[in-house]
Amino acid sequence: MGNPVRVAIIGVGNCASSLVQGVEFYKNAKKTDFVPGLMHPIVGGYHIRDIEFVAAIDIDKNKVGKDLSEAIYTKPNNTVRFADVPKKDVTVVRGMTHDGLGKYLSQIIEKAPGPTADIVRILKETQTDVVVNYLPVGSEEATKWYTEQILTAGCAMVNCIPVFIARDPAYWQKRFVEAGVPIIVAITKADKERSDPDRVKGELSLPLQEFGWKLLKGRYLNGSGTFNLSLQNGVLFLAPQTIVVKGKPVPDMYMQGLRNQNFAASLTNQPDVSAVLQGLQEIQVNDGKLIVVPKEKQ
Ligand SMILES: NC(=O)c1ccc[n+]([C@@H]2O[C@H](COP(=O)([O-])OP(=O)(O)OC[C@H]3O[C@@H](n4cnc5c(N)ncnc54)[C@H](O)[C@@H]3O)[C@@H](O)[C@H]2O)c1
Repeated sequence: MGNPVRVAIIGVGNCASSLVQGVEFYKNAKKTDFVPGLMHPIVGGYHIRDIEFVAAIDIDKNKVGKDLSEAIYTKPNNTVRFADVPKKDVTVVRGMTHDGLGKYLSQIIEKAPGPTADIVRILKETQTDVVVNYLPVGSEEATKWYTEQILTAGCAMVNCIPVFIARDPAYWQKRFVEAGVPIIVAITKADKERSDPDRVKGELSLPLQEFGWKLLKGRYLNGSGTFNLSLQNGVLFLAPQTIVVKGKPVPDMYMQGLRNQNFAASLTNQPDVSAVLQGLQEIQVNDGKLIVVPKEKQ
């Protein structure tokens, strides 16, 4: 794409650590690679390596003043170290505390001394495009305060915490529209099994012969996988997206042929199952839930 996406982080905690390490870990991911920690290596033409961290804000005395690459590994952060992040030349600046330091966190960390940095000026000077909010849960006042700084600086916002900004049409949505900048609510995808909320997970045992490998008659591929599940014109469609055998992902060259196969085809051929499916409008997996919508009665 050429231009990087310049990102500022509010709250250099465990989520920030995953994000910064993840960008390093996946910087060379190919479009076709197996990337369990990402939904897609490329989104809208931007590759994961196009993300550039340009500012970081926290209030913890042990993190403020450190380079971002060091602050992400600083206690009480305990995210597994899965990537060595090189120096970023981004010094963590002191933010506005408000309710960010709640009952429990205040027993663990000490507030950094000194005044609050001029957040609007920093966001403008660093030409930040997007600000990611990773404040502790419950930081309502702090989130609102930072949202004002973000709007004044004219940045986009990705809100990762359960303080409702984007869904408030009467006030915040209007403010973002007026400022001409987007706000997005993000669900973090963790690099671990069973973390993909829109797919079905399961064990599988594939008779290889049926999938085109005639020489392997009688042999089975046993493992676990993630599947896309959908209902199209009364036909249930269950297509594997990733398969892991003995802890190792099946290489993409084999997966390409399998991703369009319907593993539920034989189910649809059974009359009783078919009758049930004909009565359904839709089946989908969304945010970890199986949603089954029956057809409306005529
Ligand atoms: N969207 C998702 O899918 C998702 C997934 C996991 C966690 N979360 C949310 O992300 C948030 C961060 O989670 P975490 O595990 O990284 O928490 P964490 O406690 O590890 O990190 C929070 C960081 O914010 C800092 N902080 C506190 N008050 C601050 C302030 N006023 N200004 C700047 N920094 C401040 C803390 O010092 C700490 O470094 C939580 O609200 C959590 O609920 C969202």
